[in-house]
Amino acid sequence: MSDPLVPAAPSPLDGRRILLVIAGGIAAYKCLDLIRRLRERGAAVRAVLTEGGAQFVTPLSVQALTEDRVYQDLWSLTDESEMGHIRLSREADLVVVAPATADLLARMAAGLANDLATTLLLATDKPVLVAPAMNVRMWQHPATQANVALLCQRGVRTVGPNDGPMACHEHGPGRMAEPMEILDAIVGHFSGAAGGRPLAGRHALVTSGPTHEPIDPVRYIANRSSGKQGHAIAAALARLGARVTLVAGPTREPDPPGCTVMRIETARQMLDACLAALPADVAVCAAAVADWRVKGTAGQKLKKDAGGPPVLELTENPDILATLAAAEAGRRPRLVVGFAAETQNIVEYAVAKRVRKGCDWIVANDVSPAAGTFGGRDNTVHLIRGGTVEHWPTMGKEAVAARLADAIAVHLERAGP
Ligand code: C5P
Repeated sequence: MSDPLVPAAPSPLDGRRILLVIAGGIAAYKCLDLIRRLRERGAAVRAVLTEGGAQFVTPLSVQALTEDRVYQDLWSLTDESEMGHIRLSREADLVVVAPATADLLARMAAGLANDLATTLLLATDKPVLVAPAMNVRMWQHPATQANVALLCQRGVRTVGPNDGPMACHEHGPGRMAEPMEILDAIVGHFSGAAGGRPLAGRHALVTSGPTHEPIDPVRYIANRSSGKQGHAIAAALARLGARVTLVAGPTREPDPPGCTVMRIETARQMLDACLAALPADVAVCAAAVADWRVKGTAGQKLKKDAGGPPVLELTENPDILATLAAAEAGRRPRLVVGFAAETQNIVEYAVAKRVRKGCDWIVANDVSPAAGTFGGRDNTVHLIRGGTVEHWPTMGKEAVAARLADAIAVHLERAGP
């Protein structure tokens, strides 16, 4: 029961104007629920129904739920005299495309304007969020992936698609995100991008970069992690108002603005710095921690002429992610997020890793040399939370960081103070 003396927290959607473009996919029926949920939270929804969209939901149902007229035709004299399509595209705080079909995404990427939906998407000066929905092969086709990547580069945000059974009896990524997930992305947008600071008062701990494990005073074991993704996550969390402690291994990345940066070299130093930084509301372990260190590091530089190459005996490093996830109640961050860098069976391995490490979420990414993730600008990730897997399109590491920070903000907001 809610306490009558405590006023309800204002919804971040109160008074927001959403322009919802409903395109032609079977998932269009979920938009009716989305409209209802948006309106419950105080948003005004104006809908545009494409010709395909109208094959799946009727203008009458959309109109009944939005309590506004439904826009369908670019050439409608009445619509144009009442509300020109340019005005329609600008009189919104956010444009949401759900379902975003392969065809509509392709036309958006190409800049076509051959119906009302694409015309307003080209004319709008407002942020755009798309919820892709299509057959798994269509989603995985390089043409769709390239279109989505291009749209992301231009600042379009995506939510989903999810994995699961599809109307076409195939299985895999392509299902539109559920209305609640789209709602979360919209809330995340308004609490974050619009200048809100949903993580104010929260402490976020982030690990980033590689670790260096000394062999002797001049040599060390390292890996190719650049720290770009972890540093971008720290910056994104700080932008949303969090106090951020970034524990960083040796990288060339500049310190992200607004973060307290603790520079360390070895895995054991990283663990000590993390434990010293607790308590935290969220921990994101993005560092590529060396699994092993050299047992009994040499005090002096190993010499070449010491009778053949030295034999290095390795010993296991502590697992920082697992240690944070297993911390006792009160010290364990409420949300512990790990990364899983894999070169094959990415999602399958990552799902198992989440359970093994005891963390809440895992961000799985493809680090096979062909993907160019290590040191590269872009990342292709899958977010695993409990039983659900969300496949994100390839996007810049900053965009991945912003989307992850939004998801963290929504999660912590739900979890309460
Ligand atoms: O076991 P693996 O290295 O694949 O696990 C990756 C995840 O675990 C990452 O989130 C990484 O930061 C974390 N990790 C850690 N300490 C280790 C090894 C990995 O925190 N010693």
